[in-house]
Amino acid sequence: MHNPSGPGARPRIVVLGTGGTIAGTATGDPTLPGYTAGVLSVDALLEGIPSLSRLAQIHAEQVANLDSKDMEVAVWTRLAERVAHWLAQPEIAACVITHGTDTLEETAYFLQLVQRSHKPVVLTAAMRPATALDADGPQNLLDAVRVAVQPQALGLGVVCVLHGRVHAARDVTKASTHRMDAFTSGERGPLGEVDGDSLRLWRRPDTEPGAPFAIPPADAWPRVEIVLSHAGADGALVRCLVGQSALQPALRGLVVAGTGGGTVHQRLREALQWAEEQGVRVAIASRVGPLRGGAEDGLNAVKLRVRMLVELANSR
Ligand code: SIN
Repeated sequence: MHNPSGPGARPRIVVLGTGGTIAGTATGDPTLPGYTAGVLSVDALLEGIPSLSRLAQIHAEQVANLDSKDMEVAVWTRLAERVAHWLAQPEIAACVITHGTDTLEETAYFLQLVQRSHKPVVLTAAMRPATALDADGPQNLLDAVRVAVQPQALGLGVVCVLHGRVHAARDVTKASTHRMDAFTSGERGPLGEVDGDSLRLWRRPDTEPGAPFAIPPADAWPRVEIVLSHAGADGALVRCLVGQSALQPALRGLVVAGTGGGTVHQRLREALQWAEEQGVRVAIASRVGPLRGGAEDGLNAVKLRVRMLVELANSR
């Protein structure tokens, strides 16, 4: 175990709660399907896993408690500041973050871009609520702490631990709406897997070009929107967006989820060229998955948007 507190003592880990299905509870009526995400506190989640105390001394902090579809950039600012605060303490070995699955990859990649410490930052989530008989949250949280205390996890950057797999923030994406094994790292594959209390590492992640960036203050985030290229895409949405001078914050960038290898309908392309002439930054991703090569290598549209947001916020 990697332990700044010295040999023999259990490492000190901070677990930051943000909500998600992992903290979700089913409706009281057993005849009704469904559940509400982001209900239980992070303290309650930890109390349900007594074996954690064997691995680490844990301090918990609730940063937010929301369904991650409702994630806001102000929460990202707060979360990144808390991670930076805790990892700057010499006695803290790592941060673990509980999160919803829906925007996990966006939060993870944001943290990757602004994270300066070599200490581990490990995100985890669950596909089933905490009240389900077969809840996957406790195992995932236990696995996240198992990874966070490993010396091999130092310098890995921000990782996501889900269903026994360790994924790099840059590569991971949610690929199933229902399977327990809902996340993939695409052609690059996961970094490794959890093997009992140890971490079996298959590769180390690629370094992130240009990072670390400064954490954008909550009121300094620009607006970057995503538009999709599809049959009949005529650029009307782009022309509407660029024409809205009253938008707050102002539109600074557009990410296009193009077809195939990043191709864009010719009428949408004309609108995008006009947007660039108006000073709006444009970047192309693919709606199929991460593009290979170039500055956007390996980034899907939502992550390319996160990168553009952070770059623009840092260039003000
Ligand atoms: C959420 O993203 O907060 C809800 C869905 C989930 O965690 O699986």
